[in-house]
Amino acid sequence: MVMGFGIDIGGTGTKGAPVDLDAGKLVGERFRIPTPQPATPQAVAEVAAQIVAHFPDTEEVPRIGVAIPAVVQRGVARSAANIDTSWIDTDVDALFTEVLGREVHVVNDADAAGVAENDHGAARKEEGLVCVITLGTGIGSALISGGTLVPNTEFGHLEVAGHPNAEKWCATSAREREDLTWQEWAERLQVYFSHLERILSPDLFVVGGGVSKNSEKFLPLLDLRTPIVAAKHRNNAGIIGAAALGARG
Ligand code: BGC
Repeated sequence: MVMGFGIDIGGTGTKGAPVDLDAGKLVGERFRIPTPQPATPQAVAEVAAQIVAHFPDTEEVPRIGVAIPAVVQRGVARSAANIDTSWIDTDVDALFTEVLGREVHVVNDADAAGVAENDHGAARKEEGLVCVITLGTGIGSALISGGTLVPNTEFGHLEVAGHPNAEKWCATSAREREDLTWQEWAERLQVYFSHLERILSPDLFVVGGGVSKNSEKFLPLLDLRTPIVAAKHRNNAGIIGAAALGARG
């Protein structure tokens, strides 16, 4: 077994676990610590170090992968839509490598989830163009063509139906904030996914994020040309994909 290690930084919780990279599965139970507030890069890196310390048998993992909700280009964070603005322009690869005392590679959270679903999850059998959308506090996206990830697509921030920032209108947080019924929310998702379908012509949509466990309440309400399925790894996709992308470097 080739072992990796993935950490997924979310708005409320930071979770990590060793990952069997061949099988795309967690090795044992994941460990979670509430994300510190304010969630500055330094504070979050210290929590990540505590998570790694919880698994003393992972010292031989060559490089740890960390998923964050931001654009990450060559290890440098470039955006901060739902996180502390001090992440912007931080060399997160260098910071995490220093604080953890181990080599670390940081990637976008939706890209990590997308890679997990593409390699070992709901899109495993699809060789064409896969668009993974995570619905949570924000909307994350991953675009994978023939197994190759196009990173940092940020489709959550598209303008749709006159709404300048799609995630403010149709993420899970919008459903909760506005107390929308599943039907009302699905009507917004219909507009959003139809737009993605028009601009991308994907072969498959995969829907991730915590709400994917309730997928039967809203996916059947959508009418699209493209098949749309729930993510397989749900809340572990970020950890699994971070470990895989971390190992690739
Ligand atoms: C961020 C993305 C992130 C997504 C899901 C968006 O607000 O801009 O980088 O992938 O939220 O966390």
